[in-house]
This record gives sequence, C-alpha cells and structure tokens, in this order.
Amino acid sequence: DGLELRLYQGFWLPEYWVAGTVVFQRRFSPRRDDVILASYPKCGTTWLKALAFATMTRDAYPEPAQHPLLRLNPHDCIPFLDEIFADGQEAKLENLPSPRLMNTHLPYTLLPESVTGADVAGCKVAYICRDPKDMVVSLWHFLQRRQPGLSFVELFEHVCDGDVLVGPTWDHVLSYWHASLARPDRVLFLRYEDLLQDTSKHVRRLAQFMGRPFSAAEVSAGAVEGIVELCSFEKMKGLEVNKKGSSGAYPRDAFFRKGVAGDWVNHMTQDMAARLDEIVREKFRGTGLEAL
Ligand code: A3P
Repeated sequence: DGLELRLYQGFWLPEYWVAGTVVFQRRFSPRRDDVILASYPKCGTTWLKALAFATMTRDAYPEPAQHPLLRLNPHDCIPFLDEIFADGQEAKLENLPSPRLMNTHLPYTLLPESVTGADVAGCKVAYICRDPKDMVVSLWHFLQRRQPGLSFVELFEHVCDGDVLVGPTWDHVLSYWHASLARPDRVLFLRYEDLLQDTSKHVRRLAQFMGRPFSAAEVSAGAVEGIVELCSFEKMKGLEVNKKGSSGAYPRDAFFRKGVAGDWVNHMTQDMAARLDEIVREKFRGTGLEAL
C-alpha cells in the first residue's frame, strides 16, 4: 500500500522515499531565493502552501478573484520534493521560475547539506507543526481514505512509539525548532493553532521571512486579508477543483476535512490524551518549546 516504513537516519520514512531522499540529499541544488515549505504530515501543509503561493504571486494577480488557486489545488502549484526525488523527476525543479516554492515532509536533519550546511548559501525553510493529538486524528481520517477500517487506537500507539510516518513526531518538530533558534533568518517555525488564531499576523510574518514583506499601502488596501480569505478553509474546501480528482495517491477532498483545533476530544479518551501530552512534554523539556 506504499505505507511500509523504514527507519532511515532516525526517522521512519515510507520505503519508496528512501532512495529518493538519498538523491535529494546528494543532488539538490538550492537557489538563494528558494523557499522550502516543510511540515509534519497533516499539520497544515496544504494551507501553508496556499498562503505562501498566494503571497509570492500577489503582484501577478492583484484581483484575488483571478487567482490560479481558484482553479488549481495548492499541491498542484507547489511540487512535493519527497515524491519528485522518489519518482526521479528532479529535472522538473530546474524548470521552475525563481523564486521557487517547494515542499517536504522530511525532518530538518535529513534535508540536504546544500540547504542546512553552516557554510553554504542555502535557502529558506518555513515549517509548520500542530498539536500531535489533532495530527493523529487528521492522519487517521486521511489514511482511512485508502485503508478503510484502519484502527485509530493502533495508529495512536504507533504515534506514541514514534514509528509512524516521518516519526518520531517530536524529533521532527524539534529538528526544526532547534534550527529556527540557530538560524532565524533561514528557518521559520509556525504552528497550525497560531495560524488559526491570527492568520493575517502569520501571513505577514511569512511574507517578511520569504523576502516579500507587505508594504503599508498593501496592508491598508486589504492585500493580506484578501490572501487570508482566498486560502481560508471554507473557501478552499468549497472550490470545485478541491472536490474532485487526486493529488498523489489521495483524493483532493481528503486534504480538507474539518480545519479546526481540538477535534481530538471526539476521538480519544482523556487517558490517551494525557499519555501523548506527557510523552511530548518530556521530549520538549529544556528545549524552550512549549507543548503543542
Ligand atoms: P483536519 O483533518 O484536522 O481537518 P495537511 O495539509 O498537512 O495534509 O493537513 C491537513 C489538515 O489541514 C486537515 O486537518 C485539513 O482539514 C486542514 N486544512 C486544509 N486546508 C486548510 C485551510 N485552508 N485552513 C485551515 N486548515 C486547513
């Protein structure tokens, strides 16, 4: 089913990504103005892609009503590096105009040296994570689209044990957290819950980080709000393009489920929640990162 996992450099990767990851690590050649959108799966990748894409292309589409995101799924606007390299499609990257936007689910420690090395020009990386309790709920609903009957409790146990897609989850989050502290100009750390709370604020942060800050004139003309609205859950979920067809192995509508924080209360017991919270709190202790 393509979901066989292999432990590779400390993380559980889908078997078919491993060879591609090696090629990515060896051969990826970043441009200075590239932005890699990184995420733990089911933590807001689609949303971040939409927001970053709308922000970077805003000059070409001053009227949000004309924006390609109304016709194209965010995953069709921004290539997913893990699959590009797994499928030997790297030539596609060379043809992308600058500034390139790309995305990955790999942890920071598995990104190429050409991106993370101390003495390289590198590129920028914006990361999004989310409360692992909501992540596991989202992941379960998502995986069920291809594996009906998948046990929630079994998946939860895998998350707690760390042997889940690109897990251990906390090591993934920490890899980007540490990088964002060490190189704030190169690595931006975002949380899904923060974005939900004040999307405009974080879109402005993202724009600034990507080197395309909103001017005061743009802000007062409502450019940020226009992007927030265009990329909102309700708007994106309601678009015809996101209701049909598929992106990779999953139907497009699987990427737009509920779009809220705290849905875990409908799926796990308080004991399960407390157990996962405790694992994460323990792993984050002393890192400065508050439990998600
Ligand atoms: P839920 O399953 O909790 O609803 P990813 O894009 O990383 O696969 O993450 C998917 C999660 O993000 C899903 O969460 C999905 O509903 C939510 N999501 C997708 N688009 C969104 C948007 N525009 N705004 C807020 N949440 C969004």
